[in-house]
Amino acid sequence: MAQIEWSQEFSIGNATIDREHELLIGRINQLYDQLSLPLDTEAIETLLAEIQTDISAHFVMEELLMQEAGFAEFEGHKQDHERLLDQIQDMIFHFREDPENGEELLKNRMSDWFSHHFKSFDARLHGQLG
Ligand SMILES: [Fe+2]
Ligand SMILES: [Fe+2]
Repeated sequence: MAQIEWSQEFSIGNATIDREHELLIGRINQLYDQLSLPLDTEAIETLLAEIQTDISAHFVMEELLMQEAGFAEFEGHKQDHERLLDQIQDMIFHFREDPENGEELLKNRMSDWFSHHFKSFDARLHGQLG
């Protein structure tokens, strides 16, 4: 199962953002634990809603800090946040409509969904947000 492990090398050097990233990774891992159990649609929907809420709040915070710091890649970074929000919304709809197929989709995509942005866009924030 595709679990993500937090490591100190992921730190971007801002305590608030680092704590939120660690928390989000924990939530996604919790979802993977749930996905390895017999299908429980309610538990999965609850976890997805939590991830969606937390990541929306996280993006708002990150965008605010980028703006304050005058970060040059702000627009592109924000666009990628919007893409990720669309994707999780799609995964949630898909799961609601067809839990068995939706579950497979989550297993295959959830880890990359977060990791790609995190290891590219967020990694470039290192040392930029004070
Ligand atoms: Fe982030
Ligand atoms: Fe980001």
